[in-house]
Amino acid sequence: MSSILIKNAEIITMNINEEIIAGDIYIVDDRIREIGQNLSHAADKVIDATGRTVIPGFIQTHIHLCQTLFRGQADDLELMDWLKQRIWPLEASHDEESIYYSAMLGIGELIQSGTTTVVDMETVHYTDFAFQAIAESGIRALAGKVMMDKGKEVPVRLRENTKESLQESVDLLEKWHRYDDGRIQYAFCPRFVVSCTKELLTNVRDLSATYKVCVHTHASENANEILLVEKEHGMRNVVYLDHIGLANERLILAHCVWLDEEEKRIIAERGVKVSHCPGSNLKLASGVAEVPSLLDHQAHVSLGADGAPCNNNLDMFNEMRLAAIIQKPVHGPTAMNARTVFRMATIGGARAVGMEKEIGSIEAGKKADLAILNLNDFHVYPSYDIDPISRIVYSATRADVESTIVNGKLLMDNRQLKTIDKAIILKESNFAIKRLMKKLENVAF
Ligand code: GUN
Ligand code: FE
Repeated sequence: MSSILIKNAEIITMNINEEIIAGDIYIVDDRIREIGQNLSHAADKVIDATGRTVIPGFIQTHIHLCQTLFRGQADDLELMDWLKQRIWPLEASHDEESIYYSAMLGIGELIQSGTTTVVDMETVHYTDFAFQAIAESGIRALAGKVMMDKGKEVPVRLRENTKESLQESVDLLEKWHRYDDGRIQYAFCPRFVVSCTKELLTNVRDLSATYKVCVHTHASENANEILLVEKEHGMRNVVYLDHIGLANERLILAHCVWLDEEEKRIIAERGVKVSHCPGSNLKLASGVAEVPSLLDHQAHVSLGADGAPCNNNLDMFNEMRLAAIIQKPVHGPTAMNARTVFRMATIGGARAVGMEKEIGSIEAGKKADLAILNLNDFHVYPSYDIDPISRIVYSATRADVESTIVNGKLLMDNRQLKTIDKAIILKESNFAIKRLMKKLENVAF
């Protein structure tokens, strides 16, 4: 048994009443045992959180850990050029070690900035090594290998045979799904409709139903992408996903920038989850997702940073701030207020992955996934009579995260990472990207 007692904190619970309370949190093993005042349980670790703010750990519903090594290698391009000229050749150059260090680099950044759960789309090969990094680091993840069995201008190394792609996915699922008492889950990750045959997608639909796991894909991110789909299938992207039976409550769609009214209705009615990626959508010039309209349709929206080469950070503070402010010029100042965005970043993310009973809020009985913030600095002051959620969404930064706990384990304690050796990961990440860059010229198409 291991235990942590956090004393004298301001606790932003995000429970059903969104209570903010002053008190203590007692964690035993992987769960929150008790929340209250003046708790005096003996604990292996006591954290004096006087003057600190404790929040549910952020849940990012769209991340590519395999792309963290490509940070800065694909700036100032639009989606299809970004993929064809830079990202696919780089992914084709990956090896076992580079996948591992790419994941560790990303997870280090995520833990440092208070993210405790990710939905992670990997590349075609070596996904075992990303799972290895996830396992060692202690972060919570739903992850899967990307699936892509068709498409033009795709490097040979990434072109998959349909049956092999499905088989490799199932093999990974059987090895990693529910690893460490469910901390890791598998998710099927067809890349996007442009890269996937109907046979692949309908098999994914059936496997997702059989194993009760999520399907994670990109959808309607870019205007040219939806034109390609419409030209080939004679219908709009999300209509096509619905047509083949993929649109259900286990489907998590990244981006959803280019939707019409019918597609918004399909998403809401089928319980499809939207992962809004404002930073990526801006940098890749994809557009601004119509999130206020999606929310009016009662659609479910959560947040993600996407990959390092299209953002270029994996920082939920960035995404929250952008998600709020980009809507205001068009929809007015009250659109996407701080609380709406903070909900998306926490309990909304939990709902997206079907884990709202386990994570996403600070409540007795739930998994202990949380971040401790120190909001005592110039950039977040004054604090007098300000909603703490406004301070977090509009003023705070990742540097204000002092400690991060996942599954009852301290992964960062007072800015010190406990499961990741920063010096080694920074050094190895440079070696790895240098090696991949050398291979780039010889990538076969
Ligand atoms: N669409 C297909 N693949 C990708 C990817 O890797 N990143 C983003 N942002 N969009 C995609
Ligand atoms: Fe993406």
